[in-house]
Formats: sequence, C-alpha cells, structure tokens
Amino acid sequence: MSAPAASDRQRIESLRADIERHNYQYYALDAPLISDAEYDRLFRELQTLEAGHPELVSPDSPTQRIGSAPLAGFETVKHRVSMLSLNNAFDEEEVTAFDRRMREALVTERIDYAAEPKFDGLAVSLCYEHGVLAHGATRGDGESGEDVTANLRTVRAIPLRLAGRNPPVLLEVRGEVVMLRADFEQLNQAQRAKGEKEFVNPRNAAAGALRQLDSRITSTRKLAFFAYGLGAAEGAPAFGTHSALLDYLAECRFPVAKERKVVTGVDGMLEYYRAIGGKRAGLPYDIDGVVYKVNDLAGQRELGFVSRAPRYAVAHKFPAEEAMSEIIAIDVQVGRTGALTPVARLKPVFVGGVTVTNATLHNEDEIRRKDIRIHDTVVVRRAGDVIPEVVRVINDKRPAQAPVFEMPAACPVCGSAVQRLEDESVARCTAGLYCPAQRKQALLHFASRRAMDIEGLGDKLVEQLVDNNIVKTSADLYELDVAALAGLERMAEKSAANVVAAIAKSRRTTLARFIFALGIRNVGERTAADLARAFGDLEPLLQADEQMLQQVPDVGPVVAQSIAQFFAEPHNRDVVGQLLAAGVSFERTPRAANVSSRMSGRTFVLTGALPNLSRDEAKERIEAKGGRVTGSVSKKTDFVVVGADPGSKYDKAVELGITVLDEEGLQELLKE
Ligand code: IVH
Repeated sequence: MSAPAASDRQRIESLRADIERHNYQYYALDAPLISDAEYDRLFRELQTLEAGHPELVSPDSPTQRIGSAPLAGFETVKHRVSMLSLNNAFDEEEVTAFDRRMREALVTERIDYAAEPKFDGLAVSLCYEHGVLAHGATRGDGESGEDVTANLRTVRAIPLRLAGRNPPVLLEVRGEVVMLRADFEQLNQAQRAKGEKEFVNPRNAAAGALRQLDSRITSTRKLAFFAYGLGAAEGAPAFGTHSALLDYLAECRFPVAKERKVVTGVDGMLEYYRAIGGKRAGLPYDIDGVVYKVNDLAGQRELGFVSRAPRYAVAHKFPAEEAMSEIIAIDVQVGRTGALTPVARLKPVFVGGVTVTNATLHNEDEIRRKDIRIHDTVVVRRAGDVIPEVVRVINDKRPAQAPVFEMPAACPVCGSAVQRLEDESVARCTAGLYCPAQRKQALLHFASRRAMDIEGLGDKLVEQLVDNNIVKTSADLYELDVAALAGLERMAEKSAANVVAAIAKSRRTTLARFIFALGIRNVGERTAADLARAFGDLEPLLQADEQMLQQVPDVGPVVAQSIAQFFAEPHNRDVVGQLLAAGVSFERTPRAANVSSRMSGRTFVLTGALPNLSRDEAKERIEAKGGRVTGSVSKKTDFVVVGADPGSKYDKAVELGITVLDEEGLQELLKE
C-alpha cells in the first residue's frame, strides 16, 4: 500500500473537523449551516478517502458512528465517581424548605441556583481521555453501569473529540440520553408501517436503543444527548459556578439545555418552574420536572452529600398527569405468585405521554374503598414509569346500572379455588404452578432481562409453550431444541435457533440472578443479590433455616419465611436440581464478612473530628459492615468522611471527585 499523500491526510482531517462542527450545529444548536445533501456529500467524500487509506481510520472519525459488530454482552464498569440520584420536591413548600436548608448551611441571605430542565431519559457517563471519547457507561446502580461505548459513539450529538486546543487529561461528562419527540413519532410510524410493536414513550425507546448489543441498530435510532454535569476530571479548568461549567461543556461542543438559567432564591426557582411548566408541551423532549443546583461550586462542596444524593440540589417534579376515562370492564389477572389483581379495562386515554387502556385496581379492598364500579367514569393517573392507576370515581357520571365488582371464587385461568388469608389484602389462586397463568408468569420472570436474560422468550412464545404442554417448569426450557420450537405458530427456523441459542447462553449466570429468577415470593433483585453475597453459593442457601436467613441485612421474618418455604417444597427443590443438571452454573459470589451491599469492599478515609463518633468508633462500624478504612485519599478511595476542620484530604477528595460524606451521611450508610 502506498503511503498516504500529505494532501489526503490533510483533507481527511479537515473533513472530520467540518463534519463534527456541522453535527454540533445540527444536533446541539438546532441551527444547521448546510443542507442535508451538502452534509451527505462531505460524509461520502470522507468515507471514500478513508476507504483508500484504511490506516488513517481512527475511532474518532465521524464515519465510525455507524456502529460495529454485535457484542455478546455488556461489560460492567465501575464509575470513578458515583452517579447519584436527586432528592425530590413535590410542591412549593418543599422547595422553600430546600432553600431554607441551603441558606442556613451556607449562612447567607440569598442564594443563586442553576436551574435546568429535568430530562426524562437515561443518565450516562462519558469518559474523555486526552480529549477523545474513550468509554461511555449507563448509570446502572450508581456505582457501576454497563459499558455502552459502541452505542454512544453512534449518537451524533456526542462529540467523539472535545473541541478546543488543550483538552483535559481526563473529563467525565455526565448527562442524559433522550429521544426527541419528533424522532420518536417517526420511529413509531416506521414500526407501524412494518407491523411491528410501537414504543410506549421516548424514554423507553431511548433505553431500548441504548441497550442494543448491535450498535448498528442503535445508529439507526436517532438518539440525542444533553450534558448537565461532571464526574471525575483531571487537568480541566477550575470553575467557580455550575453555570460556568455548563458554558465550558457547551464550548467543548456538548449540547446543554437551552432553557438553563441562573435564578435567585425561592421566588426565582418557582418562577422558573412555572415558566418551564408552561413551555413543557412545546419542548422537543420529555421532561418530568426541573432541577435546582446551588450555583456556587464552593458552596456545593461545603454542602456535600447525604447518602445517595447531593444536598445542594433538588428535583422539583411536575405533578403526575391525570385524565378521565370510562371503565369498560374489570378483569382479573393472575400473577406469578398466584395473586389475583383486578384490572380496569378503560376506553383508551392519553395520559402522561402514553395511551392507557388498562389501570391497576390493586385489590378488592381498594375497589371497595374507592367504590369503583364497572361503567364508572374515573380519574386515571400515570406518573413516570409507574403502572397507571384509578384514583377516584366521578360520582355524578355513574350510570343507573353500574355493577359492583366481585372477586371470583375460582381462578379465572385454571378454575382452582381462590383463597384470601385473613391478614392479607391479596386473594390467590391455590393451584401453584399447576395453574397455567402462574406457570406462564413464572417462566416470563425466569427469562426476564434482570433474571436469566433469555432474549426472545416473550409473551407469545411462553403462551404457546405452556398451552401446548411443551414446557412445565423453567428446567424444561433447557431441553428445548429447534425442532420443538419451529413447529409453533409464527416461529421461523431462524428465530427458533436464536431462542435456543439464547437459552443455552443463559446457562452461565450469576448466583444473584439465579436466585432472583426462581421467583421466590418477596425476593426481589436486591434481596437476591444480598442473599448471594451472604451465602456465596447455592448449597448453603438451600440449607439455611429461617434464623440464619434473618442474619442477612434487610431480610426480616416474612422474607425469611418465604425463602424457607420455597426451598422446603419438594417440587421447587426438584426444579433447582434439574436446572443444575441442565448445566446452569454461576461463579461463586465472594462472600462478605458482614453483608452490606453498599459498604462491603469499599474504601473509606476519615478526616477531621466527627461530632458524635470518635475516630475509632467510626472505623469499627465501617469495618463491621465490610468496609476498609485507610489513611490517605487516592483514586481507589470510595468515600471520604469529613468532620470539623478537615485537612488536605478533603481537598484531595474534591479534586478526585470522590464522594464526600459528613457524619450524618455515614450514619445513613451504616443504617442500611
Ligand atoms: S444532576 C449529582 N441534572 O435525574 C446529581 N440530573 O434523579 C446528578 N436528570 O440520574 C444529577 N436531568 O438521570 C441532573 N438537569 C439534570 C437532570 C438530571 C435529568 C436525571 C439524571 C439522574 C436523575 C436523578
């Protein structure tokens, strides 16, 4: 291959710079300088030149935004600086109380706040090394997330290289990936045209796109991004205020909210809230509130954090949306644990960004309490991702004959007896896994993303597998072959092969996922993880009695009883045995000395005098929870606990972006 002519190299460089500048004009500023055709011409010229000089193709070239070969799975990455959540304020009083706390803590009369929209998307962290996008991750549990670098590279609003001459050694930019409403509408239109399932709302569509293992699919999904903060940074300029930081990010060519504004005091915040509320419907993206942050960064540092959220910021949420509709019927659904849930079938109504046709009525007592009857006109509420619910009845609109709902005495699916225990509000089908509804739900749960993560094993397929008696328990899944599946309705050989491969892949999993997948009543994802950490392996968990189970943090008598009962049931033991025999395996989970999911294995540094705890006491308590206390702050430190007159350790912590706690924050952690 001949060496590239200097002119080709230069042309490539200049095309890249031009294209990225036009990306910024288009995606961040919404002010394109050239036509789409002109843009495409530049892009094609660059592609052609790079095709002639493959040695000059670099990861930060705009041509590399088209995605690459699918991954087998996402890697987990630990965030250098935790990605925290925000405390919420739901009304003016709570905002007033927030401002009072800030003024008292900072001992000042008036405070400037950086006010911004609260984007309803997915938080991500973008890591730039020497100005080049090196990694990107989802928020995950705040401590570690999924490495979705390949997908984030396809998002044209995200710079592959920071603009400006002297990029910092390290810059972690935090922000939100969203799908603009217009792009969402277009996507759904295309889905409709193809006869495929539509997305519920832009947030779900964005989440789906970001979690694609095949980044070539992500690249077709038009995602947007807005920056709102920093994680770790090295060699970045020093900023005095949050607004100056956002200006800097804009200079680096990140999109930042046009609606951002510095406001003063409660009046300023509330005025901003009302102004954004008024504009909400016309914004190009979904928001679920506004965020106020103390603008002065020294003030932010002084205020620090309480547990999982900064003390210096608050999210002022918009009220959940409500709409009126009519109940056409009340059906009863049977869940995976046999619980019978009455569900209102509604005349379709648009609320909270989606069309709602069903709303949960929770249970019989709720229906009585709210006196909900069939054919009633009702108020339906939907907040965020929460399942829509019926809030109340409009009594004036009740028709003369509005039948009262009766909980059936027999399971609507299998006909077995329904039982309601005295101290429970829930009625249950007594047939256990002999009830096809429970079996279906149990299988769907087993296969779900956070459990065994079997892609392609959805509603329709599970329905057929159970109805045709092909699968009775989760262990039967591992016996399936392409021939058995390919005979089913709407199942081509290719998709059958994919499902079989996905089932095979799920054999390798973690203990936590496995425990969660079993569908033990009262054992959610978090408890499953705690159990995995406490027992390290399956066998000791199977042996544990209720008392031992209660040693695990957050496991009380009710949960302990559910677990013990589950494993005492011979049928359940058989299924677990069959799953292991089918080759399901997991790495042993390292056992924590004393299990605290948040503290075990974490490194703490103490500095300054704490008001109520001696240093030794603090150390003892941290260690009792599996944490480590060390003497000096480094990148490996997870938390710095700060008392009165902290020294340079505090400065170092701030510099490295390490989570700073005061005694209250530490106590909060210890309590968990
Ligand atoms: S600041 C240290 N600003 O809200 C606080 N968050 O509830 C970091 N979010 O996970 C968050 N818009 O996904 C911040 N303008 C904004 C935001 C915002 C949306 C999300 C973010 C975060 C969640 C916290």
